[in-house]
Amino acid sequence: MIEIHNIHKSFNGKKVLDGISGVFETGKTNLLLGGSGTGKSVLLKCIVGLLKPDIGSVTFDGTFFTNNKLDIRQEIRRKIGMLFQGSALFDSMTVEENIEFPLKMLTDMSKSDRKDRVNFCLQRVGLENANSKMPSEISGGMKKRVGIARAIAPNCTYLFCDEPNSGLDPQTSLLIDHLIKEITEEYDITTIIVTHDMNSVMEIGDKIMFLHKGKKLWEGTSDNILDTDVKEFKEFIYSNRLMRDAKTVEDERDDRV
Ligand SMILES: Nc1ncnc2c1ncn2[C@@H]1O[C@H](COP(=O)(O)OP(=O)(O)O)[C@@H](O)[C@H]1O
Ligand SMILES: [Mg+2]
Repeated sequence: MIEIHNIHKSFNGKKVLDGISGVFETGKTNLLLGGSGTGKSVLLKCIVGLLKPDIGSVTFDGTFFTNNKLDIRQEIRRKIGMLFQGSALFDSMTVEENIEFPLKMLTDMSKSDRKDRVNFCLQRVGLENANSKMPSEISGGMKKRVGIARAIAPNCTYLFCDEPNSGLDPQTSLLIDHLIKEITEEYDITTIIVTHDMNSVMEIGDKIMFLHKGKKLWEGTSDNILDTDVKEFKEFIYSNRLMRDAKTVEDERDDRV
């Protein structure tokens, strides 16, 4: 479980995060949802420690991360897997070398154990036998899979994904969303996914936090999302055509009963 408490962050006097608190649950896909420029990526970076909040704290399974001693922060960092926007694979390395990289950096596994782990992770994301391919030879969806395999290779306890669907077609997006959810449940990972995609919300939104202008305006699950009476959240939800249509169908059904 990851807890954040009263996170504030400004850049050059401009407030980006304005006191955000919340809990991200273990074994669940926790979504940070909102329009672009609302501070989702900045919040994610504050949680993983790539940025330091001006005020506020982050706790990983009860251990303070923010402002704690370097060795404690490093120990937590070792348990974090990160899937970056655009996958961010190393272009000059093969698929296998990309996945092996964090194992070399973070563990003292032997060469043959590393190979086994790479093959296990490749198989888990449905890419067995892609070991010797270069990133330039594979599709966007396959790159995401390699990114996920690399993130989970060192047995991560926490997984962070920033817009994992960006640049993917809807079908591939669905596959990647479900892959992340399956892995989260299978290995009991605390997963936080930054997204603006309502499809992801309805498919894998175990827990959703809606951010708007640096504040958390709503939280809940995909099951109670349509009950919201937060104006900004409604506007966000119904800017999606399919969600508008779904609402019309539901309203008509309510009128009939
Ligand atoms: N390192 C930075 N320096 C200055 N401003 C930043 C920095 N990172 C993000 N911002 C600003 O913070 C705001 C929120 O950005 P971001 O979290 O990336 O939004 P999004 O919700 O789209 O992920 C934007 O206005 C962005 O310009
Ligand atoms: Mg972003």
